[in-house]
Amino acid sequence: MNKHPFLKPAFQLGHTTLPNNIFYAPLAGCSDFPFRQMSALYKPGLMYCEMVKMDALIRHDQHTFHMLDYAPSMHPIGGQICGSKPNIAGQAAKIIEELGFDVVDLNCGCPVDKVTKDGSGSGMMKTPELIGDVIANMVAAVNIPVTVKIRAGWDENSINAVQITRIAEQAGAKAICIHGRTRQQAYKGPANWDYIRDCKQAATTIKVIGNGDVFDAAAAERMFSYTQCDAVLVSRGTMGQPWVVEDIIRLLTGEDPVIRTIEDHRQALLQHFLFTCKYHLPHRVAVDMRRVGCWYLKKSAGTRAFRELISKANNPDMILDLIKNFPLEEASTILEEEVVCQEECG
Ligand SMILES: Cc1cc2nc3c(=O)[nH]c(=O)nc-3n(C[C@H](O)[C@H](O)[C@H](O)COP(=O)(O)O)c2cc1C
Repeated sequence: MNKHPFLKPAFQLGHTTLPNNIFYAPLAGCSDFPFRQMSALYKPGLMYCEMVKMDALIRHDQHTFHMLDYAPSMHPIGGQICGSKPNIAGQAAKIIEELGFDVVDLNCGCPVDKVTKDGSGSGMMKTPELIGDVIANMVAAVNIPVTVKIRAGWDENSINAVQITRIAEQAGAKAICIHGRTRQQAYKGPANWDYIRDCKQAATTIKVIGNGDVFDAAAAERMFSYTQCDAVLVSRGTMGQPWVVEDIIRLLTGEDPVIRTIEDHRQALLQHFLFTCKYHLPHRVAVDMRRVGCWYLKKSAGTRAFRELISKANNPDMILDLIKNFPLEEASTILEEEVVCQEECG
């Protein structure tokens, strides 16, 4: 039963109804097929694939299509495209629709130089009118809802999220996600939720999705309450916590929280590992598990030793042995370990 005004058990994006308004973010290099299999177990209202480039899509690059692989259990699922050319945006969006995605998103937030140098990703924050042109072409090409993900602005001297919210609405986007940091900030420092609140106030029909620093259920509730946003997008908070949507929904509906022990974390890591083994080649499994293992076990003592061992493991058998047998204890304060983890995870 929905006892809480923030939780929407049927969330409308255009003609598409989503099961709730807690979404999982696109995370380049992280939200791959096994990550999304884990996420799907807990049923976020929408999950996004890692961003893909428009140019690569329209030249039918096989690696790009591979990144967009998904299983039926992952619906509702969004594909995110990155690029700044209006003349190919419609075609790229259409490909996402034809692949069966429920939503197509435009990336206007990626801070990486090699993406922004041609004006793509957060480079688009410098050309608001171009964002409107790209969105309009995407909207004209597809029937699925088009969304856009932006930052607060390029830097603190050029905050323009409100202006872009209006432009995106005019261009026909059904939702806009605001990451409350500038491009200059990258991922550092706290996200400023005032910008999200301002965009919500400026929006008339477009739904506003709040993003930045939602790492647990309490933060999601604060995000809703402070910004009045329509939905919350959890990003780094999904790493090693595929259940965070469940935690959020339980808090918003007044249910008792699920207490997750270190053994639960170990079992979840094991499951993630098994999904990874099924999907990726052994070398890739070993590389990915260095990062993934750190996510799941950062709340236990001995993480550093575990991480050192896992980073030396070069085959799945060694990793399986570590996950199953490494001694772990519940930690009271392991701030230093957590900081190291955060840095490693991007
Ligand atoms: C490793 C990593 C990869 C990311 N990849 C993407 C991406 O592909 N597309 C995108 O729009 N945002 C991407 N982001 C940004 C996040 O979705 C999110 O906007 C940002 O991390 C702020 O939210 P948070 O503070 O809750 O993590 C990425 C962030 C990280 C840390």
